[in-house]
Amino acid sequence: MAMERWISAEQRVPEEDVSNQSLRPRVLDEYIGQRELVERLRIAIEAARRREEALEHVLLHGPPGLGKTTLAHVIAQEMGSSVHVTSGPALTRGTDLVGALTNMQPNDVLFIDEIHRLPIAVEEFIYPAMEDGRIDVAIDSGMNARTLTIRLKSFTLIGATTRAGLLSSPLRSRFGLTHHLQYYPPDDLLTILDRSAQLLEIAAERNALMSIAQRSRGTPRIANRLLRRVRDYAQVRAGGRVDPSTVKEALALEGVDDLGLDELDRRYLKVIGETYRGGPVGLEAIAATMGEDSGTLGDVVEPYLLQIGFLARTRRGRQLTAAGGGFIGVTVPEVVEEGELF
Ligand SMILES: Nc1ncnc2c1ncn2[C@@H]1O[C@H](COP(=O)(O)OP(=O)(O)OP(=O)(O)O)[C@@H](O)[C@H]1O
Ligand SMILES: [Mg+2]
Repeated sequence: MAMERWISAEQRVPEEDVSNQSLRPRVLDEYIGQRELVERLRIAIEAARRREEALEHVLLHGPPGLGKTTLAHVIAQEMGSSVHVTSGPALTRGTDLVGALTNMQPNDVLFIDEIHRLPIAVEEFIYPAMEDGRIDVAIDSGMNARTLTIRLKSFTLIGATTRAGLLSSPLRSRFGLTHHLQYYPPDDLLTILDRSAQLLEIAAERNALMSIAQRSRGTPRIANRLLRRVRDYAQVRAGGRVDPSTVKEALALEGVDDLGLDELDRRYLKVIGETYRGGPVGLEAIAATMGEDSGTLGDVVEPYLLQIGFLARTRRGRQLTAAGGGFIGVTVPEVVEEGELF
């Protein structure tokens, strides 16, 4: 069993995590979808095990809720090692990592969530750890200042980020295996929901699970969350029956529409469509108008709207596509140039 040590007090543990733990795949065989990534990992893990070495450092990027944390645990499990969990914002000084790094057993995993928020001092501190398996710790200061070099046991750093673009290139180049996690197609989400329904002992019709899958924005965490909401609703209002109409009613109550968009998504679309006449408009202006954090909009709202073709990012800002405008009932100017700005 992979063991979990929370090395940081600041790590937030949302109540949802308790239930997520039980739904988490433990081994690669249980990890659904992301086939290319799973195959790359299978090979790398097998090779590392045969050489009796640590797996090379892994960088996972992609929108929240796609299974990055889960995968870090799965990798540790497959390596027969333990995982130590921390996150970028929880680390302020390089020395915050000394305890974790020196306590690790050979081939253990250090998981750093939100690695793009690692302070530069910590980043520089871990370079030699990643490259040469050593850390340099400053002891004393002023005239007596000395540096103590500590040799570490071999370990694997797994970094997770929603914004690979914010990672410095020296940090990025120190990862041997980098992978972008994709949104899950409805078929994979259906398989995940099927498994979750079994684990949670929910008797649900297949087409009911499919309609949850279609409203889950390609995201397993959302799929599992919607499943729990539907279960509650079915228990209280539908005599425990989970069929497509129960799903529709339960999710309507949660403000989730047929496409899986919620209130925040719709407000975002309306601000661009109505206040800014379809755009183009900068993200900061949209965030200010909505009274929301631009980081949240960029991480959790925009990626899926881009994915379903409601939104375009142009050099001059965000712009609704004809489909996006149509969805909220406004006619918008044509998108003239498309291009990834960042
Ligand atoms: N490939 C998968 N197969 C089955 N279940 C999955 C898979 N990926 C994720 N899940 C489920 O989704 C939940 C969320 O996954 P996880 O916490 O790993 O997301 P995450 O990518 O780390 O998100 P974040 O970036 O927000 O931390 C897990 O509890 C797990 O039950
Ligand atoms: Mg996570």
